Amino acid sequence: MSVRVERDGAVVTVTIDRQDALNALDVATLTELRDRLLELADDADARAIVLTGAGEKAFVAGADIRYMSGLDPDQAKGWGALGHEAGRLLETMPKPTIAAINGFALGGGCELALACDIRYASSRAKLGQPEINLGIVPGWGGTQRLARICGVGVAKELVYTGRTIDADEALRIGLVNAIADPVLDRALETARELASKSPVALALAKRLCNLTLGVDHSGALDMEAREFGELFASEDAKEGLTAFVEKRRPSFVGR
Ligand code: COA
Repeated sequence: MSVRVERDGAVVTVTIDRQDALNALDVATLTELRDRLLELADDADARAIVLTGAGEKAFVAGADIRYMSGLDPDQAKGWGALGHEAGRLLETMPKPTIAAINGFALGGGCELALACDIRYASSRAKLGQPEINLGIVPGWGGTQRLARICGVGVAKELVYTGRTIDADEALRIGLVNAIADPVLDRALETARELASKSPVALALAKRLCNLTLGVDHSGALDMEAREFGELFASEDAKEGLTAFVEKRRPSFVGR
């Protein structure tokens, strides 16, 4: 097994563990990752997901280049689709996903991190989309998500040059939310905090924030207004508002 899933209450850590290849994703590892994410998406007991890489050196050093070197166009399409499935799950599952970038996050590794809701980097992290240097382009969402997160001007420079950036630069351009050592502790701290909030409100917050990815702006604002109102039918909304008024901590039940 090259993908480990560990639970601490409602917080789940998913660790990609293929250290002899700096956690680069081959078919078996990526398939396993997709399958674990599919399960976690539907698991109400899992309220916040942290994604990280095993060892000291890498988050994920990319898609497996050795494997990709033998692909014909049809096989490459299938490979791209599998990576997109994993990215979409991280981006759309109804609970927060946090990347703890503990080293190299290159190519497909950077793309998986970009699909997460929040990214933290260790001070040693190195990020980038080096595909251009292999004569290809990012194929798991990198051309789209890097531009959405960092702006198209920044994304074009990184995708065109393929250069690798350090954690300080990643923070400056908004590619990561913060730098922390040890980065996994920081990610788990946030995950625990998020797991204590209303899962109903968090899932809606994620769905609404994700509208910026697709729907037209005024449609998204209409949707926010409508869903905001409907959320007041939930027990969690009543509890959260009442608890504040009563100066106590809320106890959310997930309805
Ligand atoms: N695919 C397959 N194998 C990879 C890999 C990848 N993306 N990235 C690293 N590895 C393997 C190396 O081939 C090497 O295996 P070996 O010991 O059997 O030769 C092992 O991981 C260690 O990597 P190495 O290159 O020796 O480590 P390094 O510290 O000198 O360099 C990197 C680290 C990340 C700079 C370098 O491995 C690299 O450039 N990797 C490719 C990054 C990339 O282009 N990713 C995007 C792919 S789309």
